[in-house]
Amino acid sequence: MKKWAVITGASSGIGRELAKLYSTRGFDIVLVARRRDRLEELADTLKCDTKIIEADLSDRDTCKALFGEVSDMNVQLLINCAGFGAVGTFEQLDLDKQIKMIDVNCTAAAILTHDFLKDFRYRDSGAILNVASSAGLMPGGPNMAMYYATKSFIVSLTNGIYEELKSEGSHVKIAALCPGPVNTEFNDVAEVRFMTKGITPQYCAKCAARGLDRGDRIIIPENILAVTKTASKLIPEGISMKVAGFYQKGKLGGLL
Ligand SMILES: NC(=O)c1ccc[n+]([C@@H]2O[C@H](COP(=O)([O-])OP(=O)(O)OC[C@H]3O[C@@H](n4cnc5c(N)ncnc54)[C@H](OP(=O)(O)O)[C@@H]3O)[C@@H](O)[C@H]2O)c1
Repeated sequence: MKKWAVITGASSGIGRELAKLYSTRGFDIVLVARRRDRLEELADTLKCDTKIIEADLSDRDTCKALFGEVSDMNVQLLINCAGFGAVGTFEQLDLDKQIKMIDVNCTAAAILTHDFLKDFRYRDSGAILNVASSAGLMPGGPNMAMYYATKSFIVSLTNGIYEELKSEGSHVKIAALCPGPVNTEFNDVAEVRFMTKGITPQYCAKCAARGLDRGDRIIIPENILAVTKTASKLIPEGISMKVAGFYQKGKLGGLL
């Protein structure tokens, strides 16, 4: 029987690499994003069956309709990867853009997780990978406050569901992927540049799949970040937020 993976944000970056990787692991892939031409280009290169869903996930009704479009397809994996960020103080950044960030980064992921989780739990199989960020592990992120908040939401939501599944003895897996900088189009969209060298999206995807296989709750691709996570427990929140604020400000070249 065919098994399908539904991957949002498959037109670029981490989502695109996850689509390539899972296509080599026996999955057929449902590719979801707004840019159909990009999805078609990717579909042509994958050696598996594909279904393209052109969707703007900032629209709630579109998100709610998505499950219905694949409900007869034996979906075994959902990857919520679509997302974007913006750098600037909370007050400076356009409010509508920040609300849209909540819609795509949080609401869409919550709707899809809810719909697919029901199905996975009924069958007692399947996995959900929510792409969060190392930002989601921090107490807050000055100069990128809304982005950090959306990623904290994803980490918290995933943690809660993970424990619910565990306490039921469910075989369904859920994990939050928390990478630091990854070299994708993320920065172009956020109109910034990284202050540190990022990892490749290929490496990020490989770590994600390995972590999901292991049943990890939080997947942190880089060893260095795992150290940072441990250290962050020891560093007072005020200091870690000052460091985050300095880092995000640096992305704009001190324009804030
Ligand atoms: N790059 C990093 O440093 C980094 C680090 C940690 C976490 N992340 C997270 O990783 C995820 C993927 O980002 P990326 O780095 O791969 O960036 P990317 O190359 O810019 O990819 C973002 C993806 O999200 C999709 N997307 C954005 N808005 C959408 C919308 N309204 N509806 C549907 N799809 C939408 C884009 O597709 P369309 O434009 O075609 O719709 C694209 O496929 C994001 O959630 C991001 O927060 C990135």
